[in-house]
Amino acid sequence: MTSPVSISVDGGVATVLIDNPPVNATSQAVRQGILDAIREIDANDTVQAAVLACAGRTFVAGADIREFGKPPEEPHLPDVLQAVETARVPVVAAIHGSALGGGLELALACHARIADGKAKLGLPEVTLGLVPGAGGTVRLPRLVAMENAMEMVTGGKPVSAGRALEIGLVDRISNNDLVSEARAYAEELIQSGKPEPTSARTPRDRPDASFWTEKEKRIAAKARGQQSPVEALHALRDSVTLPVADALTAERARFLRLRDTEQAAALRYMFFAERNTGRPAEIENVEPLGLGVAGVVGGGTMGAGIAAAMLLAGMTVVLTERDAAAAETARERVAGILDGSRKRGLLSDAAWKDALSRFSAQDNYNALSAADLVIEAVFEDMGVKREVFTELDRVCRADAILASNTSYLDVNELANATKDPSRVVGLHFFSPAHIMKLLEIVRTDAAAPATLATAFALAKKLRKIPVLAGVCDGFIGNRIMAAYRRECDFILEEGALPQDVDAAMRDYGFAMGIYAVQDMAGLDIAWAMRKRRAATRPADERYSRIADRLCELGRFGRKTAAGWYAYADGAKAGQPDPAVEKIILEESARLGFTRKPFTAEEIMERILASMQAEARAVLDEGIALKPSDIDVAMVHGYGFPRFRGGPMFAAGYRD
Ligand code: 3HC
Ligand code: NAI
Repeated sequence: MTSPVSISVDGGVATVLIDNPPVNATSQAVRQGILDAIREIDANDTVQAAVLACAGRTFVAGADIREFGKPPEEPHLPDVLQAVETARVPVVAAIHGSALGGGLELALACHARIADGKAKLGLPEVTLGLVPGAGGTVRLPRLVAMENAMEMVTGGKPVSAGRALEIGLVDRISNNDLVSEARAYAEELIQSGKPEPTSARTPRDRPDASFWTEKEKRIAAKARGQQSPVEALHALRDSVTLPVADALTAERARFLRLRDTEQAAALRYMFFAERNTGRPAEIENVEPLGLGVAGVVGGGTMGAGIAAAMLLAGMTVVLTERDAAAAETARERVAGILDGSRKRGLLSDAAWKDALSRFSAQDNYNALSAADLVIEAVFEDMGVKREVFTELDRVCRADAILASNTSYLDVNELANATKDPSRVVGLHFFSPAHIMKLLEIVRTDAAAPATLATAFALAKKLRKIPVLAGVCDGFIGNRIMAAYRRECDFILEEGALPQDVDAAMRDYGFAMGIYAVQDMAGLDIAWAMRKRRAATRPADERYSRIADRLCELGRFGRKTAAGWYAYADGAKAGQPDPAVEKIILEESARLGFTRKPFTAEEIMERILASMQAEARAVLDEGIALKPSDIDVAMVHGYGFPRFRGGPMFAAGYRD
């Protein structure tokens, strides 16, 4: 087998090229290849400097995640990097694409770094439940200030090449041909002498004990039970408090210990699950239709967010509202979202102007005649939505895709309200739609392969994670949420209070509990759904009346200053409300329950069991294609902690 690492020597400078598609991960063959190349360079007196570069779309994007579940094979990455760092000649890393994890560690072990202007550099190991395991925590603080190192290692987010230059992570940015500039740099180093190995350098700073205490408090709170960010902080502390060799050994031990944890297994599973959500067999080799111009009907919370998401992805968007005043409000809403992205530095001034120039809001359907795709996000009411679809049928092109963002309604019924149901699909976005990663693609009975292929293409364009769902009340996510919300209400009837349930969910790792979430989203849509279902509900089905009683009092959540909690004076955080407790106690008494205390574990057991039971039904009915799709939906749409892998993973499912 030929090695994925090749070496060529020209005029005293060797170029070591790694070519291991798709992302040049440091598989065993790559590690061996780099080691052999360094040995060859060490043995060849004509070589005076070396460049380490990669073929294809990226620099080394890290260790091969697929090898983590298997016994480690020699040579180990830390030993390879040690060989690079102690090579006889200076080695320059030429970075393009992404230098991530073990890839950035490789660059850190080189004597100098030059990056393409579009490159990204990061240590994302924490997102896989790990800490860097090949010297990243030891070498990084010897190039950049500890505050910057801490952000990169404990947060896992990559930095841009520009930022890397600013903080001292790379020495130069390449503006033309990266490898030629790296070679020129290597030649300069032949003249000026080999820079000191990174690990032999003095750390940029050595923060005092209070720095570590304060950071640990903040990082642990943010991690909500995930271990790796705190472990990463400890590894960084070791790097400036222990001798270098001991810090390297301690880091490796930490990496190996974490690699075998359930959290790391869950995060690895998620990494692949997110990239492999199911696609229907019939869209293989089907070309998606165009996605240049999109229409949005309804510019409320969701419509505005969907419009913004599409504008941010470079599409042209026409939004339609009920009248001129509503169109103006919607326009302001969309402009506000784009402005927020600009203020947070996610959008340059030029890109912001460009996005706004591609947007218009109107009070009629005329402009929708040019759209490739129209997404309706009007009120959750079948009558209103049917009227919208009838109108779209009239004005849109015959090949335009018509989509509904409905949360619960029957998309087949909407499709049947049009002349050609094969072009209708559900596109269920999550709020805020320009941020949330999940997109449920709801397959109607008659949906044509090109319609589905275009829905998947849209997800890709918007950088969302598509999960295919069948038509049913609530599709995958809302249906499972309805099931565990029902279970939570039963727990209230039996003895707990909303704040107990929410605290148990937060302890488990959810950002918010179910009751705080309902207050934030509004209780009215689910109430309407329950009323709709009331007629067909079996008489013997257990049903909690607590939520209905709150809604009957006009308690729709934060927007009415009262829901499951009270929100005095516009407060964002709700307070437990005696009026709610009174209703809960009355319902317990009415149903004849003797209230009993619940532990957080008991609450979570009940919640997980109800999620898992509904998830199994969703699978059995073919609403979801596979267990990991359900996990992706629950993690990315409903705040299920990613480090627990989702409810199916927690129940032992693997695929
Ligand atoms: N190992 C194995 N496979 C990987 C991989 C890795 N590190 N990174 C990506 N892949 C695979 C993906 O599964 C996908 O495979 P497929 O085509 O068969 O589905 C393919 O490479 C392309 O990946 P993406 O679809 O994600 O491509 P993008 O262009 O969107 O993104 C990327 C590229 C930014 C490199 C992204 O893949 C990524 O973030 N990868 C993970 C990087 C990472 O976490 N590295 C750290 C590993 S841990 C480590 O290095 C430990 C060390 O400290 C010892
Ligand atoms: P919203 O009430 O904020 O917005 C609805 C908008 O539609 C209003 O601006 C209204 O003026 C407009 N509208 C109503 N009838 C119209 C018509 N005939 N033509 C043009 N515009 C019309 O509602 P929201 O929250 O944005 O929800 C919209 C849809 O998205 C609903 O189907 C809802 O179930 C779904 N959804 C809501 C989520 C949420 O978190 N709010 C999440 C996912 C889906």
